[in-house]
Amino acid sequence: MRICMIGTGYVGLVTGTCLAEVGNHVWCVDVDQRKIEKLQNGEIPIYEPGLEDIVARNVKQGRLQFTTDLKEALDDSLFVFIAVGTPPGEDGSADLSYVFNAAKQIGASMENYKIVVAKSTIPVGTTEKIAGHISQEIASRDRKDLDFDVAFCPEFLKEGSAIDDFMKPDRIVVGTQNSRTAELLKELFSPFCMRENRIISMSIPSAELTKYASNSMLATRISFMNQLARFCEKVGADIDQVRHGMGSDSRIGSAFLYPGVGYGGSCFPKDVKALIHSGIENQSPMTLLESVEEINKTQREWFYQKVLNHYDGDLTGKTLAVWGLSFKPNTDDVREAPALDIIPWLLEKGATVRAYDPVGQENAKAELPKTDSIIYCEDNYQALENADGLLLLTEWLPFRRPEFDRMKELMAGDVIFDGRNQYNPEQMNAMGFVYHGIGRCV
Ligand code: UGA
Repeated sequence: MRICMIGTGYVGLVTGTCLAEVGNHVWCVDVDQRKIEKLQNGEIPIYEPGLEDIVARNVKQGRLQFTTDLKEALDDSLFVFIAVGTPPGEDGSADLSYVFNAAKQIGASMENYKIVVAKSTIPVGTTEKIAGHISQEIASRDRKDLDFDVAFCPEFLKEGSAIDDFMKPDRIVVGTQNSRTAELLKELFSPFCMRENRIISMSIPSAELTKYASNSMLATRISFMNQLARFCEKVGADIDQVRHGMGSDSRIGSAFLYPGVGYGGSCFPKDVKALIHSGIENQSPMTLLESVEEINKTQREWFYQKVLNHYDGDLTGKTLAVWGLSFKPNTDDVREAPALDIIPWLLEKGATVRAYDPVGQENAKAELPKTDSIIYCEDNYQALENADGLLLLTEWLPFRRPEFDRMKELMAGDVIFDGRNQYNPEQMNAMGFVYHGIGRCV
């Protein structure tokens, strides 16, 4: 099938590439000329394991093309995906201007029947508005002969494992207004679930809400565990044992129950905010989510407070190593990363920070204060040189089982603030470290 993908961000690029990989012809369109030139030269603007190889293979075989010319891409395609950003506006609502611009351009340029599929995360009712914008443009061209359908297919891929998530999905949600569009989309997505039908058809508003509901549910689980971890410290329980005990109930399950320094990234914070905003707008307040957001915000402050308390409220003259600047492992994405909040707080209290991240370093540098008090290191051990303490903020693989003896030799102090509960508290104490985890009381 022939596909036009508008937007070459995370979702657009991965979706377009994976659709090409199963034999479709895909045009990826973006207004950013430099980005398109880079992609045409085989340079991938994001760090995503495995993506570069699949892009290169499909470009070589002529199934994947990049352009800034929407008209050229549209003329050639039956399906038109909208996968542009929906960043949070000042009031927390999703900014839909990029989505609506794309819709208007489709209406202004299309010459034959299209199925317009929204893939960006958008509030309930937005796909209908997209249809309205397309119709308006068509009407202004006086082209009553032109017809189209709209659909909404949310994306559930995770950064760092995006290809795998796309190729082997738990489910594919298809929101449509009629059975013909549903059938065509089922056919398009069938290669990703050949053995078992994982495609769930539903109405467009239900599909729109499914996306927000899924991310908000996962964020709720995390905030629940973070709040419970704080409680554990008060009552002498260990959150890791509680997590194991709870998660073994098949009704609860073990995923997304790991406490830490709060969720980050471009999705959970934005989507929780947007659903709270939609609740208020529709006089149906999402009070549970308001708490989820509040707990997430205060979790970082609570962790920082632990550091501060350890040093009696004064970090003057202290050197602290920070491992992990990206919001989670396997990505260079630093959006809403804990390090971006916590490092400036440490600096304010007089600390010098020795920071390291396997791939997020450059992005973090661009966001963090420009100061000599942050030293960017070449590896995680260099970050420890003469450090009084270590803050572990992202559980990258190389940080999970480091050489503890070497760490002790390099550090001036012996304190570890483990923001991701990666280490065994008893083992750490036995090795002579002063260990602070999240909700660990063994
Ligand atoms: C999330 C969802 O998991 C995807 O299904 C969804 O498609 C995506 O948002 C999106 O809307 O585009 P992502 O933001 O890439 O994916 O990252 P996750 O792996 O879900 O992690 C989100 C945050 O939660 C990270 O900060 C992570 O450290 C934190 N987390 C995750 C925890 O603190 N505890 C956990 O147990 C799991």
